[in-house]
Amino acid sequence: MNPRKPNPAPSLKLIVYGMPLLFLLLTIASMFKHKPYTTTTTTLTSLRPHCNAPSSIISQLEPLIAEEPLDVWEGLGKEESHIRYLPSLTDLSRSRRFIYVDLGARDYDSSIGSWFAKQYPKQNRTFEIYAVEADASFHAQYRARRGVTLLPYAAWVRNETVVFGSRPIVVGSKVWRMRPFGRIEGEQAAADGMSAVVRVAAFDFVEWLTRNVAEEDFVVVKMDVEGTEIELVRDLVKRGAMCLIDELFMECHFDRYVKCCSGERINRFNFSYPQCYRLFKELRDMGSVVHQWW
Ligand SMILES: *[C@@H]1O[C@H](CO)[C@@H](O)[C@H](O)[C@H]1NC(C)=O
Ligand SMILES: *[C@@H]1O[C@H](CO)[C@@H](O)[C@H](O)[C@H]1NC(C)=O
Ligand SMILES: *[C@@H]1O[C@H](CO)[C@@H](O)[C@H](O)[C@H]1NC(C)=O
Repeated sequence: MNPRKPNPAPSLKLIVYGMPLLFLLLTIASMFKHKPYTTTTTTLTSLRPHCNAPSSIISQLEPLIAEEPLDVWEGLGKEESHIRYLPSLTDLSRSRRFIYVDLGARDYDSSIGSWFAKQYPKQNRTFEIYAVEADASFHAQYRARRGVTLLPYAAWVRNETVVFGSRPIVVGSKVWRMRPFGRIEGEQAAADGMSAVVRVAAFDFVEWLTRNVAEEDFVVVKMDVEGTEIELVRDLVKRGAMCLIDELFMECHFDRYVKCCSGERINRFNFSYPQCYRLFKELRDMGSVVHQWW
């Protein structure tokens, strides 16, 4: 050691070594403070080989949005105009039947009437339309509607009764109560006695799809199922039915930032935006024509 250079003062040493250590400790502490997102792997790639669409089609789709949108949620809006629909990239004339399945159909006008009937490019084909909706309050309006078959169930991975539940969202002194739709917080809500809960019939969507459509059919699916999409998509891939769907519009529900109300996340969904993004990317890498739906 050079005797003319004294050791750094202990306080300086503390700063040099202490700061990174403090930073590390704070990072670890914050990981415990914030509820970590589900660690369930979203990796589907191990289930290759996969689907139909060649990479020349996939590369022409609208790019996936990698950055989490932090603006106030307005539903399908400005993103819709960016969608590159499969029938605008390929010829449907070789398909046998044309089928549209709306999972989470709700009101006829919420997506079948307002979007699929009016905007989806159909190359003059008549599509058979299936409205999958478990909520009985929507069923009456489908009875008289020709060309639409109502399946009064929730889309699920097996036939059983499931709980739709919704606990109130509480941010500070504000409380938002919501109707129960989708399986979000279903079981917890059923247990706590304060939340809105309904029990609905759910059906095995893969089984239905496999029995009702074939490779030669052109099948479009919209999936807005309040978080269940993660399990449905895994099930479709695992049971080899994903490729029966030619074009999929999927809303991936993530833990959304609510600028309007609090600037906080509301912890309703345990998927983060980056996990949703990875799921879309994996599906496209596997040859699925999948779009982000909002
Ligand atoms: C669709 O049908 C209409 C009316 O029959 C016809 O005028 C039009 O050319 C058709 N378009 C295509 C893309 O086949
Ligand atoms: C599941 O439910 C659907 C719809 O009711 C029915 O068609 C199908 O046969 C059922 N599948 C099984 C395995 O019970
Ligand atoms: C969220 O967590 C619950 C319980 O751990 C799990 O059952 C559910 O599948 C998870 N949801 C997603 C989207 O991973």
